[in-house]
Amino acid sequence: MFPSDFRWGVGTSAYQIEGGRTDGKGDSIWDRFSDAGLLPDPGDVACDHYHRWQEDIELLKGLGVNAYRFSVAWSRVLPEGRGRVNKRGIDFYDELVDALVGAGIEPVVTLYHWDLPAALQDGGGWTERSTADAFTEYAELLAHALGDRVGTWITHNEPWVASMLGYTDGLFAPGVTGWDNGLTAAHHILLSHGLATRRLRSLLPKAHLGIALDCRPAQAASDSFADREATRHFDGFRNRWFFDPVFGRGYPSDLVADHIARGRLEQGALPFVRAGDLDVIAEPVDFLGINYYTSVTVSHPDDESEYSGVPPGPEPPEGYTEMGWPVTPDSLTSFLVRVHEEYQPRSIVVTENGASFSEGPDDAETIADERRIRYIEDHIRALGDAIEAGVPVDGYYVWSLLDNLEWLSGFSQRFGLVWVDHANGTRLPKQSYHWYRNAIAELRS
Ligand code: FCB
Repeated sequence: MFPSDFRWGVGTSAYQIEGGRTDGKGDSIWDRFSDAGLLPDPGDVACDHYHRWQEDIELLKGLGVNAYRFSVAWSRVLPEGRGRVNKRGIDFYDELVDALVGAGIEPVVTLYHWDLPAALQDGGGWTERSTADAFTEYAELLAHALGDRVGTWITHNEPWVASMLGYTDGLFAPGVTGWDNGLTAAHHILLSHGLATRRLRSLLPKAHLGIALDCRPAQAASDSFADREATRHFDGFRNRWFFDPVFGRGYPSDLVADHIARGRLEQGALPFVRAGDLDVIAEPVDFLGINYYTSVTVSHPDDESEYSGVPPGPEPPEGYTEMGWPVTPDSLTSFLVRVHEEYQPRSIVVTENGASFSEGPDDAETIADERRIRYIEDHIRALGDAIEAGVPVDGYYVWSLLDNLEWLSGFSQRFGLVWVDHANGTRLPKQSYHWYRNAIAELRS
């Protein structure tokens, strides 16, 4: 069922693993957030991947993955976000990419996993249109530096999170609030996706280019009109606002109407959209990345709440992860089928899927994380079902290689196949690591 060139990978992101606030790296908005004491654990060291990356490559080799998705810290290569290049930053990714290629592991580069250079935030960040130009220059710099070895590029990771949590709610860095700001930021992020895709396409005509959108499939809590309406709104707010413009449909008109009715937008043309923008955003992609963790049951009037799970915590009830998210593999299948039917991307890649469970080593240094194994197994099965239903899925990346810094949850939420002792950086593969290695070997044979 899975073709022999299917990509079996794992993913990470720069801020969550690198640490290494050194060698000329500029600060990002997450460094600032951490410095302001807004994270439960500071991100200064994270998994110290910046110094331990060779060990991490050995872990990837041991796992037998044929692809590794990581992100570049924009402020490591361009400390002020544009202009001056930090050669030591480029060298870091250059060596990493060389080592991956040498190990037969395809490097898959995400350009933006939420860590905007702080200097750009000082000029307004994603609420400023010029940030989209800065992003395009950054993409060009990386194309020149790594494009001879990197064949797959993801412009943005989860623009919903970056814009809605970063610029509307202010929960995430940079902590800006207001619908104006959030919707404007979302538009500029999408615009930068289109601009960078065009630029990369012209520089690297053979590269595979895509974007990783987060999704929350939603079902109504009941058949009542109010619950169905709430679900329509939730789906528009959480999914369609991003999927639609990327696939040439513009912003969903029902959501525009909702936002106007809620006083978030003025009647008339969207103020942040200029002529031609929607064409740029709809620049065709070679693949669509989907980050999938859970689905949501929506009831009126709760039509924008993030998760309909249980509170996060170390002892979730059966059927939930420690994030409090319900485990719903079947919704992965149905969402993939829907995306295939509605948007017809050339190819779909599950760019993130995984679970937070905090099992650690026992006396024999074994980490028996059966619940993670079951979660991954069930989602791979769901993926197989989608492929059988005709959906062109070409890859699957477990989130994550390492227990890393889970944003506002700090180190308390552990998504890794590899345990990390954050007191000293020691790594220890969990049983799920061994299980995934065997699964990949079997599925590829
Ligand atoms: C996704 C993020 C990733 C990680 C997982 C658990 O939303 O892309 O960085 O935090 O959730």
